[in-house]
Amino acid sequence: MKKKTPALTSGTVPQYIGVDYYPEHWTRERWPLDARLMKEAGFNVVRLAEFAWTFMEPEEGCFDFAWLDEAITHLYKNGISVILGTPTATMPAWLCRKYPEVMRVLESGHREIWGTRKNNCPTNGTYRLLSERITRAMAAHYTANPAVIGWQTDNEFGGQPCYCDTCKVQFQEWLRAKYGTLDNLNKTWGTHFWSHSFREWAEIMIPGELHNPGMWLDYKRFVTWQEVRFQHEQIALVRAGCPEHFITHNCMGLYQNLNYYQLAEELDFVSWDNYPVWGAPDIPYDAAMAADLMRGLKRRNFWIMEQSAGPGGWNTMGRNVRPGELRKVVYQQLAHGADSIVWFRWRTCTAGREQYWHGLLGHDGVPLRRYQEARTTAQEFHKIKTHLAGTTVCPSVGILYDYDSLWAVSNQPGFTGNQYVANVRRYYQALLRAGVNVDLIRPGSDLNAYRLVIMPQQFVLPDTLADQVIAYVAQGGVLLTDFRTGVKDEGGLCYERTLPGKLTDLLGIVIEEYEALDDQMKYAADGVEGFPKALTAIKFADWITAGDAEVLVKYLPWHMQDFAALTRKQHRKGCAYYLGTVFKEESFYDALIGTLLKSARITPLLTPPPGVEVSLREGKTGRLLFLLNHTEEIQRIGIPFAAQDLLTRKKIVERIELEPYGVALLKMG
Ligand code: GLA
Ligand code: ZN
Repeated sequence: MKKKTPALTSGTVPQYIGVDYYPEHWTRERWPLDARLMKEAGFNVVRLAEFAWTFMEPEEGCFDFAWLDEAITHLYKNGISVILGTPTATMPAWLCRKYPEVMRVLESGHREIWGTRKNNCPTNGTYRLLSERITRAMAAHYTANPAVIGWQTDNEFGGQPCYCDTCKVQFQEWLRAKYGTLDNLNKTWGTHFWSHSFREWAEIMIPGELHNPGMWLDYKRFVTWQEVRFQHEQIALVRAGCPEHFITHNCMGLYQNLNYYQLAEELDFVSWDNYPVWGAPDIPYDAAMAADLMRGLKRRNFWIMEQSAGPGGWNTMGRNVRPGELRKVVYQQLAHGADSIVWFRWRTCTAGREQYWHGLLGHDGVPLRRYQEARTTAQEFHKIKTHLAGTTVCPSVGILYDYDSLWAVSNQPGFTGNQYVANVRRYYQALLRAGVNVDLIRPGSDLNAYRLVIMPQQFVLPDTLADQVIAYVAQGGVLLTDFRTGVKDEGGLCYERTLPGKLTDLLGIVIEEYEALDDQMKYAADGVEGFPKALTAIKFADWITAGDAEVLVKYLPWHMQDFAALTRKQHRKGCAYYLGTVFKEESFYDALIGTLLKSARITPLLTPPPGVEVSLREGKTGRLLFLLNHTEEIQRIGIPFAAQDLLTRKKIVERIELEPYGVALLKMG
C-alpha cells in the first residue's frame, strides 16, 4: 500500500474528530453501516484495538490481524483514519494461564485474579516481553497501512503498587542507581529515626504510607519510572516499525499516581480522557484545569482521546448529557488547546463491565439525539479548524503544579482534608471566574513568559526552585506562594531553617510558629487596603510576622493580633505575596486574584458573568476568544471589542447572547 503523508512531520497540526470504536464487539455485517454513519457524522478518525489483544494474538505467538484489517478498510474507504492502541491494558486469558507470575501482587501478598484490567506486575519480564511482541507485530503489520496515522500506548497508565519480590528488587536497584551508597540513602531519608538505617540494599522493602516519608516519596517516583520504562519499550518498537506515525497516550487529567510530565516526555503529544458529565450540572472547572495541565505537560496542544458521550458508570450510571452539552464539552476543550476530539465510545456495549457506559449510539445502534449532536459538532469543527490551526493558549499566568509536593502532601497532609490539588483549585477557579487563562507547568520551567506565577503549597522546595522564583521576582515577576511552602527538601527531610526558609527575604516575613485548625476552630480575620473584611481563616494558620512586607490580611483573635494571614513584599521591580491560611470565603480568592492581576498588570479581555467561561487561543490566524455558557439560562455578555462569531458568521456589536450551554467563538478584529 502507498505510504501516506506523515501526520506530524508534515508541519500541519493534526485536526481530527471521531470516536473510539470496538469492531470486535459487533458482527462483521454491522461494520460497513458503522463506518458509513461515522462518515455521515463528519468523523475522520477512530481509535481501535486497545483492548483487543486476544483477537490479535489468539494463541501465544500466532497473530491474526485479518479482522482488524477488514474493519480498517471499511473505515478508510469512508475517509476515516485510524489510531491503534497497544492492547496491553487487558491481557488474554491464555497469558495468565501460562504465566501466572505476571499478575500483580497485592499488599496482602495475594496475586490479583485474572479479569478486569490493568492488573499485571509492571516489572515482570514475561509480561514485558509479551507486550513487546504484540507491539512489534502490530507495528510491522501496520507500518504501510495508509489508514493508520498514530498510536496510543496501552490505556490509561496507572501507578498501582505491586508488592512482588521482583518489584522489590527492582526498587532496590533503582535506589542503588540513584544513591550509589547506602550511606547516602540513609542520610537523604533520615533513617536514624526509629532505628531504620539500612545496612544492605536487600533490606529495603516496598513502603506503605506510614513508612519513612522520604522513602515513600522515592517509591512514588519509582512507580512512575516503572510505567515510563514499560511505555518506552513500546515506543521504541513503534518508532522503529512506524517512524512516520505519531505516538500518544490517553492520560487521566488530574490523576495523581503518576508524574505525568515524565510519562509525556517521549510522546509526540499528550491526549487525555475527559468525563466531566457527573452529578448535578455545574461549572466544569476541573475539565478546564485538567486541560491546562495536559497542555502544560509538553507545553503544546493536546488531543481528547475519550470524551463523554452519554451517561457513564460501571455499576450505577451517571446523568445524561443535556441538549447542547455534548457540543459545549467539546468547545471547552478546544478552548483550552485541544486540537482533536475523540468521543468515547461509538456504541454502548451490550456485554461486559461497561454496559452502562453510554456511547453516541445506545445498545440499539440507532443514531439518535446524541449522535445528531455529535454530528452537528463535527461539522462545525470542520468549518472552524483552519482558524484553530496553529493557535494555542498563551497565558500570562502560570501555576506551578508539582507531583513531588502533591505526593508529599498526600502522605502528610498536615491538616485534615489538606489536598494539594484542592489548594490549586482555589486559585485556578478564581482565575477562571476572572476570565484569565492559566498554564499549569512543571516546576523548573522557564518563567519568563509569565507576569504572574502562583506556587501553591510547594511543600518540597528544592533550593534550585527557590533561587529561580527569587530571580523571577527580582526581574519583575509577581509571585504568590502559600502555607507549607519550603518545608521539605527533595529527600523528604524538613529543612533546618525557620520558615519560609530560603524565601524569607523574598517574602519579607518570618513564620516561627504555625498550627492546624480542626473543624471546630476558626480565626476571624480582616483585610486592610481594600481586602474584604470579616474573613474566616480555617484549616491551618501560619503565625506570620511581617518584616519588610505589608500586611494585607490580619488575624483578629487576641493571641493572633501580631500575626498576618496575607502579606506582600514589594521589590524594586516585582512583588511577592504569601498566604498563610485557607479562607472559607470564595470571595476572598476573587479579591486576591483581582489584586494579583492588578499587581501583574494583567487586564482580562472581559469579565464573564457567573457560569460563563472565556478562553483565548492565539496564533498566526489571529486571536480567537471562546465563550462557554455552563448554565441552563440565557446569558448576555458585553463584548468590548470588534469581533465576528465564527459559528454564526455574525458581527458582534457590543454584546452577545448565549443559549443554555451555548458557545461562541469570536474572531477578534
Ligand atoms: C476509561 C477507559 C475506557 C473506558 C472508560 C469508561 O477512560 O480508558 O476504556 O473504560 O474509562 O469506563
Ligand atoms: Zn511486581
